[in-house]
Amino acid sequence: MPARFLPGVRCDTVPSSSSAATSIDEEFSPLRWRGDCLELLDQTRLPAAEVWLRCTAPEEVAAAIRRLAVRGAPAIGIAAAYGLVLSTSGAESENLAEDFAAAARLLGSTRPTAVNLAWALERGRKVFAAAAPDGRDAARTALLEWARSVHADDIAANRAIGRHARALFAANDRVLTHCNAGALATGGYGTAIGVIRAAFEAGCVAQVWVDETRPLLQGSRLTAWELRRLGIPFRVVTDSSAGALISRGLVQKIVVGADRIARNGDTANKIGTYPLAVLAHRHGVPFYVAAPLSTLDADTATGADIPIEERAGAEITEWHGAQLAPEGATGMNFAFDVTPNELIAAIITEAGVLRAPFDATIAGALDTSGRR
Ligand code: MRU
Repeated sequence: MPARFLPGVRCDTVPSSSSAATSIDEEFSPLRWRGDCLELLDQTRLPAAEVWLRCTAPEEVAAAIRRLAVRGAPAIGIAAAYGLVLSTSGAESENLAEDFAAAARLLGSTRPTAVNLAWALERGRKVFAAAAPDGRDAARTALLEWARSVHADDIAANRAIGRHARALFAANDRVLTHCNAGALATGGYGTAIGVIRAAFEAGCVAQVWVDETRPLLQGSRLTAWELRRLGIPFRVVTDSSAGALISRGLVQKIVVGADRIARNGDTANKIGTYPLAVLAHRHGVPFYVAAPLSTLDADTATGADIPIEERAGAEITEWHGAQLAPEGATGMNFAFDVTPNELIAAIITEAGVLRAPFDATIAGALDTSGRR
């Protein structure tokens, strides 16, 4: 049983129950490779039903990413990596390089903000280029081995993020999170929820406030589903509750994930993240971003350069066929916003806790890890 509510315990002093050594099978994951296909837990069906989708072609993976059956920046990158493996399924007579290039283009066009997608495709192209001269089977074997390593590395990174984060928490903290940055959004374990989980196991989280996260309810549907599985106490709140909760002293920490972090630390995450950071700043509440190094984008200078996905307005004005706004009303649906670096207390990565000046600490983390 995790230790809870330990008075006076600094959370970095509680011994770890987790180890860096992990494999895909040791952690709940929303993605699983089954011999010749990729299975995805369909997140559009949660929490009502746990349905696994079977993808045998990159087109099916791309469609699943577009409609958010698989979502969250790291999980999108991993799904795309397995999608590249599926591009090698054709007959020996077909053009392997064309199939691969078409799959990479299609997968790359699905969601623009999550940099983990471009990150995975760029690496996949290199793996393919090295193996393809030896034929289809060699390319498939190399890509599968690589995709599995991307998957396992993400879980290991998330567990390390959790370990680094523990020192940031104090006993009985109430933590607010937005959207879903848990196991469902990653290879497993989660980033923001991984942080919360590690801090909870160290006795440092009394309760989580779960923003419902309009319009697609990743908080109330997915984060709540995960916290219930983990046995972590939570309450679901409307997105507009944060100001009231924070001003009443009911929030000690805010932890969110990220879709892309620019070189200067500006962070794109689910729409509604930026106003939380403003509120946190106003009230002196630490605002943390938890993300693997694969979410840091050395090629993007500032938040202004991050492409922001705009989704169908109907996601706001309708819900499963029911009209939520008058017939003919149109919605404006930015999927993400950008939080300026000066509102971020720290970015928690597998390489450690990065603080301002972020341009220097991000560059240092990327250099040390050999990621640039
Ligand atoms: O549109 P979504 O559900 O893919 O948005 C997800 C988020 O905004 C997450 O916070 C982010 O991808 C980090 S997931 C570890």
